[in-house]
Amino acid sequence: MKVFLIAGARPNFMKIAPIYRQALKHSYVQCKIVHTGQHYDYEMSEAFFEDLELPKPDFFLSAGSGSHAVQTAKIMVTFEELCQKEKPDLIIVVGDVNSTLACSVVAKKLLIEVAHVEAGLRSFDLTMPEEINRMVTDAISDYFFVTEESATANLIQEGKSKARIHFVGNVMIDNLFYQVDKLAVDIPEHFQTSKIKGKLGDYAFLTLHRPSNVDTRSGFCEITEALNTIADKLPILFPVHPRTKKMMDEFDLHLSKNIFIFSPLAFKESLFLWKDAKVVLTDSGGLQEETTAIGIPCVTIRENTERPITIKMGTNILAGTKKESILRAFEEAVSRPVSQFKVPPKWDGKAAERIWKILLKKQVRQD
Ligand code: UD1
Repeated sequence: MKVFLIAGARPNFMKIAPIYRQALKHSYVQCKIVHTGQHYDYEMSEAFFEDLELPKPDFFLSAGSGSHAVQTAKIMVTFEELCQKEKPDLIIVVGDVNSTLACSVVAKKLLIEVAHVEAGLRSFDLTMPEEINRMVTDAISDYFFVTEESATANLIQEGKSKARIHFVGNVMIDNLFYQVDKLAVDIPEHFQTSKIKGKLGDYAFLTLHRPSNVDTRSGFCEITEALNTIADKLPILFPVHPRTKKMMDEFDLHLSKNIFIFSPLAFKESLFLWKDAKVVLTDSGGLQEETTAIGIPCVTIRENTERPITIKMGTNILAGTKKESILRAFEEAVSRPVSQFKVPPKWDGKAAERIWKILLKKQVRQD
């Protein structure tokens, strides 16, 4: 069984790592990693492959940056050529980035089966490019591997057959537990942030990169004001995404001196910081889930979330994007009793194992 495992952008890499590791346990499976090249900087890509113990990709498509249409089209053209040459039986796509959409559409038109990991999540906000990517991918996928019950409900609402929906847990959390265990025995010497972490005591950890938050001056200024106010009470550690850096320079934004800025951090160093933070401030999808899995309060700087389970479990608070609402959410997050936090069902580190069990059972039946 020849399987292509697709990854393109930073949040994909931690999701494919446990799927790849589990694939190696099955001699019947020939699993090849296809990197579309959507993210290409060392810090956004290669550093993750090293940290996550992934081998070099079998195929690299060099898509690079561009408008959504340009980037998606470049991936589609090169991926189609690759599929025609290599003829995989199945492709596995993860998450909701442009590479997810591009590769699933190409494969399906070539009559190759598509498995979508993290299917069914919905923000119901069509101004988010990721929402369009999720909906299109789910419209044509053969296997839906879901992380939370809301996703199952969304897929059924959209008319998908129950037989194709599999609640397997969360591969992102498989990877998280694997890496937390590694950090418990060995903290790499090269971490540039070790000193500052040791010096600060309590701190917040921040990530911010959504176009809706950083691409307009007024929106980004409003969020910056909230962050500067929070930084008066609690220092903030902030690895800055390339998009965010570009916009900060363009808008000439000034951050408090109590906000410590870094280049994008690879997976392990980022985890090393946020796992001990008093609170995480973020607009990322993945961090909402990862903080929930290990019980760290999270303030989500967005108007909506496609991951409502994180709110239900008590760890995540949807803060909106206005200064006052962010400050209110921050105060609530730091005062919530950690003992009341819960962990979602099946977020137990075994999602990838369940995925392969299902894929192999069906494939063997077809043969
Ligand atoms: C993409 C995903 C988003 C994900 C995010 C994580 C889509 C639609 N968006 O958004 O869901 O949360 O990745 O990072 O797929 N750039 C670099 N180096 C790189 C990559 C990008 O400098 O390695 C710069 C480019 O100038 C580019 C900008 O960052 O214009 C944004 O990159 P892009 O891949 O378009 O989108 P992201 O904002 O990273």
